[in-house]
This record gives sequence, structure tokens and C-alpha cells, in this order.
Amino acid sequence: MDEKVKMIIEGQTHEFPVITGTENEKGIDISKLRGQTSYITLDNGFGNTGSCTSGITFLDGEKGILRYRGIPIEQIAEKSSFVEASYLLIYGELPHQDELDKFALSFTKQAPLHPDMLGFFEGYPTAGHPMALLSAMVCSLAGYYPELLKPEPSEEEVKFTSAQLLSKVRTISAYTYKTSIGESFIPPRDDLRYISNFLNMMFSTKEKEYKIDETVVSALRALLILHADHEQNCSTSTVRLVGSSWANLFASISAGVCALWGPLHGGANQKVVEMLEQIQVDGGNIQKFIDKAKDPDDHYRLMGFGHRVYKNFDPRATIIKQKAHDLFDKMGIHDPLLDIAVKLEEAVLKDDYFAERKLYPNVDFYSGLIYKAIGIPTVMFPVMFAIGRMPGWIAHWKEMRENPASKIGRPRQIYTGHTERDYVPMEGR
Ligand code: ACO
Repeated sequence: MDEKVKMIIEGQTHEFPVITGTENEKGIDISKLRGQTSYITLDNGFGNTGSCTSGITFLDGEKGILRYRGIPIEQIAEKSSFVEASYLLIYGELPHQDELDKFALSFTKQAPLHPDMLGFFEGYPTAGHPMALLSAMVCSLAGYYPELLKPEPSEEEVKFTSAQLLSKVRTISAYTYKTSIGESFIPPRDDLRYISNFLNMMFSTKEKEYKIDETVVSALRALLILHADHEQNCSTSTVRLVGSSWANLFASISAGVCALWGPLHGGANQKVVEMLEQIQVDGGNIQKFIDKAKDPDDHYRLMGFGHRVYKNFDPRATIIKQKAHDLFDKMGIHDPLLDIAVKLEEAVLKDDYFAERKLYPNVDFYSGLIYKAIGIPTVMFPVMFAIGRMPGWIAHWKEMRENPASKIGRPRQIYTGHTERDYVPMEGR
């Protein structure tokens, strides 16, 4: 029997269908509420509102589960490549070898930027934030490649555009970094794979070729995969909302980059490193910072702890912690910030304040340390997040556009301003 929920509004009973997901998640479908009544729902921060149904990513915050297209994140992070994980997210299935080869080849072919785009970088202030340049350049791809903007692109054309974007965003990011440090661009190479190609464009110079280290590649691969999708977060919801007006892929994703830029979303990894540095400069007194975070009269928070959805552990944090240790061990790096991070985590996990509030290390707690060890400056951390999140954004844009039931996103409001009043001429004010 179809499940229903009854709502009594002004003495009248209204019934609404219950939608059940494949993991038995339940939602009340109130799409007819406004039609049947004059009411709407109000949900600050959308904590209880589903904006869509989606078959891309499942997460269960209570159990610490994250799966892409049904496959646990732990398996993908261990066994897959970023290009294969992107294919899985965007097309729904793991590719056969020929499909993966074709997809990877189109990445290689699409890596160079239109020559006219290079002047854009030259005109940008070197101290400008890289996320502003990234979002501008992603949106500008629409101007440089207008042939990709067909109103109803075929499946092959969408595939091509997705590969184009995934590939070019890596080149744009590396060139953005080079612009910020005043170095010449190092063009993409056909003989290098996705991550090695990126590292080469970032760290090689005209004079000296960067030596690619497989440990670094492996750590970066895991980070990109772990950031690849996280269902309806702020930036992904932005991509879907912008795309719901049938705005093109580049415009929609450029908006997602801007949403990610905010410190409450993609900027937390930078804040973690800054916090660890602050503890170090202060003499390493971890307890002092824990006490500060626990003080109800102090707004200070321990960065990299807590999550809106994960309330037991963040499965991504567990993998990233291991990757950080592997990287530091294999590269023989001794970063005192890692020691502080380990001690801070241990102390927090023993503390009742954090246990009662279910505050555990999140994905950002160790990721910044890895980026730092690789040589990526903190201002570029959100850009790294954006490269990783790209396949998720594309997958959601595609899923939304392919769903014939999708509608333009247009929330309502409860108006709290003035009731009607007359215009007062200037002399009477
Ligand atoms: N340090 C100390 N106390 C904290 C922390 C923290 N990091 N996080 C939450 N709390 C406390 C709050 O003060 C509150 O305590 P109270 O009940 O005594 O008032 C309680 O825990 C619940 O906090 P909320 O803010 O209601 O939790 P919410 O789910 O809204 O916030 C968030 C989640 C924003 C991630 C929060 O935990 C936080 O600010 N963490 C630090 C920033 C961070 O690491 N962000 C990255 C998140 S992962 C990502 O976005 C990729």
C-alpha cells in the first residue's frame, strides 16, 4: 500500500505521498501543498528539505557511509583512478577498458587552452584570489567554445563537453598558480596522466623539470577522489539551481566554484593549517586551544572537527589521515604540524565535550597537510577542492538536465516586510 502522511491545516486534513529511496530513506512529497492549501514550508538552511531525487551518491551520516553509484568510497579511493571515478559518477557505471581509454584520450586532447584565453591570465592581478580567476575562466569557456552550447546536446556531445571541462580545469588551475607567482606557463603534455600532468604544469619551470613522485600522485589521487561528490551540498545545489534555468554547463559550474569559495564550505582546509600553525607558534599547548573551543563565552572552534551530516566519523577523514602518514613516511618529511594534528585529534577524541556533541575530524582535518607537503600554497587549497568536485558537479548537472520531471528551481518565501503604504514625496519625508 502506498504510504501517505496526513497534515491537518486549518481543520482540513490533507494527504501527501511518502517517497522511499533505495536505501529506505523517506521523504514527504509536498509538491502539491501550495495547490491544495495556501501554505508553504519554511526550512532555514534546507536541513530537512530534499530538492531532488538523485541516483549519484548515497551517504549515511550516522553510520559514516559514503558511496558513489553504490560503490563504497573506501574501495574507490583504494582501487580506482580519478578519471575512472569521474566516469563512474557522470555515467553511472564503471567503464570497460575501451570506454575508459576513449574518455582518458579526450582528456589529453582537450587539455590545452584556446590560445586567446592566455591573455586573460596576463591581465589578472597576481595577488587576486585564484578562485575568482577559476570561476571566470570556467564561465569564459562558454565564449571560447560556443559550439558546445547546443540547447539539446546529444549524449556524445555531453561526453565531449564533460571531458573538455574536467581536463581544462586542471590546466586553468595550474596556469592560475603560475600567474600568482609570476612564472611562465608550462603547457600540458600528451604523455602524462591526469594528476602527473597537473603536477608538471604546477611545478616544472622553463629551466627545471619537476620530478614526479608516485607517492605524491597517489596521495593527490585519493584526495581528488574523496572530494569528487558529496550529494546536495552548497556548491552542488548551486550548480543544479543555476542549471535548472537551462544555463549551460560552464555557467552552472562557474557558479558552483563561487559557492565553494566560501570559508564555510571549501575554505576549511586552509583554516585547519592556519590553526595548527597558530598552536605551534603559541608553543604547542593543545589543551589551551581545546579549552578555548569548549568555552561557551568564546566563539572559537577547532577547525576540521564536526560535520553537519557525519555524526560518528567522516569516512573520508579516516582514509586521508592514513594517506597523510604514508606520504610523510615515504617522503621522509617531518612536519611538526602533523605531530600537533595527531596529538590534537587524540586529545579531542578523549574529551567528553566533543563526544557528547559528536564532533570528529572531518575531511578537511588532514587534507591541508597533504597539500602543504606537496608544495601547494594555502590560497590554492579551495582550487584543489574544485578540481576534485568537478565530476560531481557535472554528474548532477547532467542528471538534472536528463530528468524530464526537472523544473526550474524557484523557492518561495514568507514575506516579513512592510504591509502596503503610500509613496511619500521628498518634501514630506
Ligand atoms: N569546535 C568546537 N565546538 C564545536 C565545533 C568545533 N569545531 N563544531 C561544533 N561545535 C559545537 C557547537 O559550539 C555546538 O555546541 P553547543 O551545542 O554547546 O552550542 C555544537 O557543537 C553543535 O554545533 P553546530 O554549529 O550546531 O553544528 P553544525 O552541524 O551546524 O555545524 C560545522 C557543522 C559547521 C562543520 C561545525 O562543526 C564547524 O564549524 N566545524 C569547524 C569548521 C569545519 O571544520 N568545517 C568543515 C566541514 S567539512 C566540509 O565542509 C568539507
